[in-house]
Amino acid sequence: MRKKHKKIAEVRTFKNVFDYKNENVEEDLKKYFNNENTFIAELGCGQADYSINLALNFPSKNFIGIDRKANRIWNASKNGTNNNLNNVAFLISYVEKLEEIFKTIKFEEIWITFPDPYPRNGSIKKRLTHPRFLSIYKNILLKDGKINLKTDDDTLYNYTLKIIKEENLKLHFETNDLYSITDLPFEYTIKTKYERMHLEEEKKIKLISFSF
Ligand SMILES: C[S@@+](CC[C@H](N)C(=O)[O-])C[C@H]1O[C@@H](n2cnc3c(N)ncnc32)[C@H](O)[C@@H]1O
Repeated sequence: MRKKHKKIAEVRTFKNVFDYKNENVEEDLKKYFNNENTFIAELGCGQADYSINLALNFPSKNFIGIDRKANRIWNASKNGTNNNLNNVAFLISYVEKLEEIFKTIKFEEIWITFPDPYPRNGSIKKRLTHPRFLSIYKNILLKDGKINLKTDDDTLYNYTLKIIKEENLKLHFETNDLYSITDLPFEYTIKTKYERMHLEEEKKIKLISFSF
């Protein structure tokens, strides 16, 4: 517990970490990257395995890992620094705040990696593919920008497919058993901390890629 408090106190001093509570956070992020490259976001990134591995493989793109928990961003930040990455930054923020933050930065792609599934009917509004979140994503994505969801959870997977149909969105790819497919593109095969735990429990990994 003490370690967690230390991380929370320290994380905001790291040069690749930004906080939504800072007034000029979008400008600060632009100064940090200092280039015209395209942006990709990872929501609920935890230790940001997707952002880090994508950043290593796509040096001419900018990545932002976003999580509401400062101690998780501490781990993500160390991970980025240990890999000498200057094309990845981390933002302590609620997904709910992203529309307010990103007025000029627009994303080419959003990754939602193993979000809390909120399986109970009473908490449907908290699912990160609920229409209230989709309207936020629409405002921070470039035209034709993609949303990619990876999950182990059947309810969230089926719910997201239902929403894509109801909202008339474009479905690019979907599977309820990712690793039954051979020749997957690299970006589908990155394994996050939670993904590795689910795989150890022999759960099937689901992936959905869609746009507006
Ligand atoms: C189950 S963990 C998955 C972490 C990581 N993506 C992985 O696959 O290892 C879900 C993460 O989403 C974050 N999260 C949940 N709801 C969020 C929200 N509304 N805004 C920002 N982060 C959120 C949590 O703090 C947590 O780190």
